[in-house]
Amino acid sequence: MNCNNHIINNEYAANQKKYLKSLLLFPLITFLILLLFTSSNYCAASEINLIENSYGENKPMAPKILVAYATRAGSTAEVADAIGKELAAGGTMVDVKPIKKVQSIDGYQSVVLGSAIRAGSLLPEMTDFVYAHKDDLRKVPAAYFIVCFILRENTEENRKTANAYLDPLRAEVTPVDVGLFTGKMDYSKLSFWETFIIKYIVKAPEGDLRDWNQINTWAINLLPKLINSQKEK
Ligand SMILES: Cc1cc2nc3c(=O)[nH]c(=O)nc-3n(C[C@H](O)[C@H](O)[C@H](O)COP(=O)(O)O)c2cc1C
Repeated sequence: MNCNNHIINNEYAANQKKYLKSLLLFPLITFLILLLFTSSNYCAASEINLIENSYGENKPMAPKILVAYATRAGSTAEVADAIGKELAAGGTMVDVKPIKKVQSIDGYQSVVLGSAIRAGSLLPEMTDFVYAHKDDLRKVPAAYFIVCFILRENTEENRKTANAYLDPLRAEVTPVDVGLFTGKMDYSKLSFWETFIIKYIVKAPEGDLRDWNQINTWAINLLPKLINSQKEK
């Protein structure tokens, strides 16, 4: 009888332990999930300058070009703005805006689309946009550019990889030109987990490696392709 009581007491204690453990684990897991969620959203778009500019507004008869971009940390926005300025300096009217704010490409004679690269891919809003507007985009000259970090080592193989990032867009709409640009790594613009991965796992150093001369030259050479390869609407 005593022995039976002892076994029952042991079972009871073990069950109590299990219960207490699960009671502690639940808030701990919830806390970790919340931490993951909030930290990945920490440093969201509010801290990033989502540039929206119009250039060449004093030339109402000039061709109108849309330069739309997808960014996470802001560097692609600045590249898009530099391209927009350069295209306008060549005598066009240009709107520079985040792709998420573009409803349609009506009213634009040509379009330039640029995306940051994350985890080996274009940002989803860029691929979604091209897919959604492919019929309209096929009727106008369109150019693509990417801003990435793989080109910080400018090898043949890395250029191939960077060029291949654009394949999903090429599959929908053939561009008149593509620009492959090295970007910027600024840990202060990344979430906790992104910083952790980039700093300690990928080990990509911080730095602004954008080559403004290359970017501006690309835009200057792009202009005649955007103007002269007008397609039948
Ligand atoms: C989490 C993360 C993942 C990235 N993945 C890639 C990648 O797969 N390939 C690449 O070339 N660059 C990659 N980069 C580098 C970015 O493309 C580069 O920093 C770019 O300038 C970011 O553009 P943004 O500032 O407009 O967001 C990555 C950067 C971060 C923060």
